[in-house]
Amino acid sequence: MQLVSPNFADILPANFEIKNFPDGDSYIRILDPEKYKGQQVTFFHRLYPNQNDSITQALLVLGVLKKLKCEVTMVAPYLPYSRQDKTFHDGEAESAKIVCNLLAGAGVKKLVTFDCHFLKKEGEFKYGKLNLQNISLSKAIIDHAKEKFGNTDGAGTEVPFEIVSPDEGANYLVEGAGGKSMKKVRGEYETENKDEAYRTIESMERNFDVSGKNVLIIDDMISTGGTMVKAAENLKKGGAKKVGCATTHGFFLKDSLARLRGMCDFVFASDTIPNEVSEVKIGDFVANL
Ligand code: R5P
Repeated sequence: MQLVSPNFADILPANFEIKNFPDGDSYIRILDPEKYKGQQVTFFHRLYPNQNDSITQALLVLGVLKKLKCEVTMVAPYLPYSRQDKTFHDGEAESAKIVCNLLAGAGVKKLVTFDCHFLKKEGEFKYGKLNLQNISLSKAIIDHAKEKFGNTDGAGTEVPFEIVSPDEGANYLVEGAGGKSMKKVRGEYETENKDEAYRTIESMERNFDVSGKNVLIIDDMISTGGTMVKAAENLKKGGAKKVGCATTHGFFLKDSLARLRGMCDFVFASDTIPNEVSEVKIGDFVANL
């Protein structure tokens, strides 16, 4: 049986309620709960945007399903906190594991997600106490970008095509298609804004030629856009003919979408996080879960 969150209603019809109490606490209600009793339930709920509220809403739903003794597969297209899978200083939270353990403890038998940052390949995994199925959108993204580039320039001459990832962590998205990876080095946490945990990009290097080629850059996520901007600058300096950038998870924080649109031939993402350039759709991937 499918239990679909209002925040998934762009893909499947929603069938339970989420509201807020006046103080901001979340309220959820599963209608006709008896019909779920003892059943296998696939629970579709986005955990981003508003990740902290969305995780709480998920825990409330999972609490009801636990009481109803359901076996739950949860579908969360983007898994928040997945980038904090390592610690750099004593006392930092290993957030990815903590969130995964929280979901497992709340009763998620398996979490289905897309291009999960710490898994870096497609398949079934166990991370902490959570079983995960990771689906990659790399092929769908590459196919879509090929259509956008076309094979030829305006004069009908064939243009060579290159696929690159901006760092080695995203190499898995391009290697199956014969792509290459650039090398990104991040620095320490910035100290200017004390409330923001952000590590600047110190360098972006490339050891292959892109001159005269159409180049697609793929990353698992575009957050502040810092990575994509540096990668696109590097490729343009290297003489790339056209540069397109694409990602599974498009946050496009601050003015990053406008910046990238200004410097690249196209920018697109999937609808794991709905945004104005969600061109690759996950509907077909989740329809039969
Ligand atoms: C990092 O390793 C990820 O794969 C992305 O490259 C990164 O999170 C993108 O963040 P931003 O857009 O802020 O550079």
